[in-house]
Amino acid sequence: MIRSFLRDDDLTPAEQAEVLALAAKLKAQPYDHKPLAGPRTVAMVFDKPTLRTQASFAAGIAELGGNPMLVDGALAGIGKRESVADVARVLGRQASQVVWRTYAQSDLEEMATMSGVPVINALTDEFHPCQLLADLLTVQEHKGGLAGLTVAFLGDAACNMGNSWALAGVTAGMHVRFGCPEGYAPDAGVLEQASALGAATGGSVAVTTDPAAAVEGVDVVVTDTWVSMGKEDEAAARREVFSPYAVTEDLVAQARPDAVVMHCLPAYRGSEIAAAVIDGPQSVVWDEAENRRHAQKAVMAWLQAHVGQPGKTG
Ligand code: CP
Repeated sequence: MIRSFLRDDDLTPAEQAEVLALAAKLKAQPYDHKPLAGPRTVAMVFDKPTLRTQASFAAGIAELGGNPMLVDGALAGIGKRESVADVARVLGRQASQVVWRTYAQSDLEEMATMSGVPVINALTDEFHPCQLLADLLTVQEHKGGLAGLTVAFLGDAACNMGNSWALAGVTAGMHVRFGCPEGYAPDAGVLEQASALGAATGGSVAVTTDPAAAVEGVDVVVTDTWVSMGKEDEAAARREVFSPYAVTEDLVAQARPDAVVMHCLPAYRGSEIAAAVIDGPQSVVWDEAENRRHAQKAVMAWLQAHVGQPGKTG
């Protein structure tokens, strides 16, 4: 069975730990591990804007000995010019893995079903699992571990990052608190799945509309843009709804004194996060951005090693 990484809970807790350990090893020795030697080609397809994801995948594929092949989503017209299934069949004949940033999770799932090669979610409307592996690697580096830590996600949690933090954080045994306005919590089904995962890992999810209660005593404070891709027309209204959840110095002061602050970027200083916070001593956002490369290298290496092996077992 071909393994893919389409959502955060595609990795069991043990597998997530294995991938994070591999990421740390690859970060320490970036040029020693070449599972894509040949070079094997990895197709990178982007239907939405990107800086970090494209740059970190391209650099990471090269470091693994592979060939990064950029496919322009607008030119390919996947689902418009030809079907997802036909694009998948074609890319699977050219590439050893496919990395795709697109809209619908169901399209990504079809790509995985039809391509015959591992497929990696580079962000969909529902999940951003590569970002979460980078975030967890960053927390692990700064805190020495993950299980038992508490993270507060502030602002718009009804998005891919909210969903992914719920699943990936609980998979790692963390307690994930969402501080968000009424109606902006992560997907209810995803929260249920995260709670169920917590029975095995000791992690948990909680939602509050009180931003101060969300950050009280936490180890990690996380936020994301209030105007996600595709929501640009609602920018003014969203700023009003989310302004009480801005990550300011006063709010961060409610967290543990050694708490770290994260943002997956791009960031808008003065909106979801104060300049003094993102550019301040508790911010680890640049480590987080760098760790995209190390985490994604680990995913690609891990998936390549599992081609032809039995699937997820628990
Ligand atoms: N955080 C993130 O995914 O960045 P890009 O949208 O620039 O790829």
